[in-house]
Amino acid sequence: MKYPIHFFVNDEAMDLEVEANKTMLNVLRDQLCMTGTKEGCGAGECGACTVIVDGKPINACLVLAPEMDGMHITTIEGIAKDGELSPLQKAFVSHSALQCGFCTPGFVMSGTALLMENPHPTRPEIIRAISGNLCRCTGYIRIIEAIEEVANQYKGGE
Ligand code: FES
Ligand code: FES
Repeated sequence: MKYPIHFFVNDEAMDLEVEANKTMLNVLRDQLCMTGTKEGCGAGECGACTVIVDGKPINACLVLAPEMDGMHITTIEGIAKDGELSPLQKAFVSHSALQCGFCTPGFVMSGTALLMENPHPTRPEIIRAISGNLCRCTGYIRIIEAIEEVANQYKGGE
């Protein structure tokens, strides 16, 4: 059985019919071909599928597709503006905070949600915010430093 849903992805209105046993991650990747949101575990353990809904990071693999009705979803494809990477994306590049890159969209989305809610996070707050994201390559330090750099930019801008 299919369900009609109306929702927004990166401020664009969408109308789709989705199957009840599919997830938001399936819809993004398979129906909308938005493959920036990664599928790692598919079970809420790795954070590779992190997107932002109502300012909060969530695991797209844990949301059933019909539940997307009415949601405003931001994905990794939606945070660069006018062809320019977001400040956090730039900081990931300048800090070499990625290796294979598979986890990177999820970390960027968790970091972006944190900075939206709290522009001046402490290091413990950053660590807590990315605690649901797993990386097998980087050792996490450069990721933390990239988020800290953006937090310091905000401080410097005041
Ligand atoms: S794919 Fe969703 S948490 Fe791992
Ligand atoms: S950069 Fe490879 S898993 Fe994080």
